[in-house]
Amino acid sequence: MNTPMNTRMRRRDLLKKGAVLTGLFGLAPTIFPGYAFASDKQEAGVSDKQEAGGSGKQVAGGSGKRPAGAPGKQSVGGPDEQAAGEGFFSNGPEADFETTPVEIRARLSANENPFGPSSKARQAMTDAMLLSYRYPITDRKRLIDAICSFEGIREDQLLLDAGSSPLLQAAAACYSSGTVVSANPTYEDLLKRAQAAGGKVIRVPLDGEYKYDLPALESAIDESTSLVYICNPNNPTATVLDTGKLRSFCERVSKKVPVFIDEAYIDLCDDPQKTTLIPMVKEGHNIIVARTFSKLYGMAGLRCGYVVAQPDIIKKLSFHTNGASSVSALTLAAAVASYQDKPYMEYAYKSIAASRKYVCEVLKKKAITYVPSQTNFVIFPVNMDGAAFAEKMMQQGVGVRSFRFFDKEWCRVSVGKMEEMEMFATALDKIL
Ligand SMILES: Cc1ncc(COP(=O)(O)O)c(C=O)c1O
Repeated sequence: MNTPMNTRMRRRDLLKKGAVLTGLFGLAPTIFPGYAFASDKQEAGVSDKQEAGGSGKQVAGGSGKRPAGAPGKQSVGGPDEQAAGEGFFSNGPEADFETTPVEIRARLSANENPFGPSSKARQAMTDAMLLSYRYPITDRKRLIDAICSFEGIREDQLLLDAGSSPLLQAAAACYSSGTVVSANPTYEDLLKRAQAAGGKVIRVPLDGEYKYDLPALESAIDESTSLVYICNPNNPTATVLDTGKLRSFCERVSKKVPVFIDEAYIDLCDDPQKTTLIPMVKEGHNIIVARTFSKLYGMAGLRCGYVVAQPDIIKKLSFHTNGASSVSALTLAAAVASYQDKPYMEYAYKSIAASRKYVCEVLKKKAITYVPSQTNFVIFPVNMDGAAFAEKMMQQGVGVRSFRFFDKEWCRVSVGKMEEMEMFATALDKIL
């Protein structure tokens, strides 16, 4: 009989099986990404992250059409605006992207971790579902405590949000009254947001090793500078700065102006403990470090990130965020559980490293000089129009991303599961 009680019991059974997780909330592509999910097909032609209006190009699908407002190759203004990075800018016409008729088999365009959340995180989400009628106050506190103990920081040095993107955007809002100094190419989200808010951005070209040119950055800082943004490891070049050099740069510069270090990919680099600048925050420097659960932790679709900074900066940034209930109870539970699943994180780290090694060998065999990578993506030059190359890859069911900088066309391929990288290699062979 279909009584409310029976319905409730059936729902509870479903909850126990975790079916509601994948069914109602559409998490399936995040947890089991890669192949036959309808939403994958919808997103196949373009990355789920729409471009910021810069020249990092959308990888269009079979139709070859670009989303409205996504500009393709052209730059967006004066010389300092010829940005080649990527970033969310999802509220404009760029969000109305098209679907593609091509079925994606290897989604290697958004630097996701296809191993997904750990099994402990998945179980924690299933359990948290039962109490998800409650506002996530204690759940939030549990994650805050876990991060503070994991990073060795105080609670007043931490700000949590639904991914690091809202925090990058909060920083853009806070510091757009002056000039933001950064690099080109780099991750564009904060920079484009600062420009949209009326700020000026100076983009200093990367050096010959595709790393931030710290001396040139320092020379670009003047009394109008309100923030320095450094993405380390850098997206899209996958390069990591020498920690000693970055530290001494930050020691000097942060006396004049805050330095924002975007460490979205830090967990994937060779030595995260040695590379992170969170210790500098603990020492009292004016540094803002952003982190995310979207990469190594495989939680991009769940949305969780944080910044670590001095308490006055945390307070300032918090006025530009959505506040305490921005992260869902399920996500909070998954993040706490991820910390308790070290073996899984090691497994994901090693699997990504093995896939990355494979990609590099594939490129080496084809005499393609890629930029050495310490992350879950590799960038390499292509001897044809980058967008055309990406489109050809898409025809083979492989989603990648194209860029144009230093007068060259580039392909950035995310590092996924080995079978996805084999698909990439097969497709590459047909095109280059
Ligand atoms: C360098 C960098 N920072 C920040 C982000 C935003 O990540 P999220 O909002 O998922 O934490 C990304 C996403 O790809 C990124 O590449």
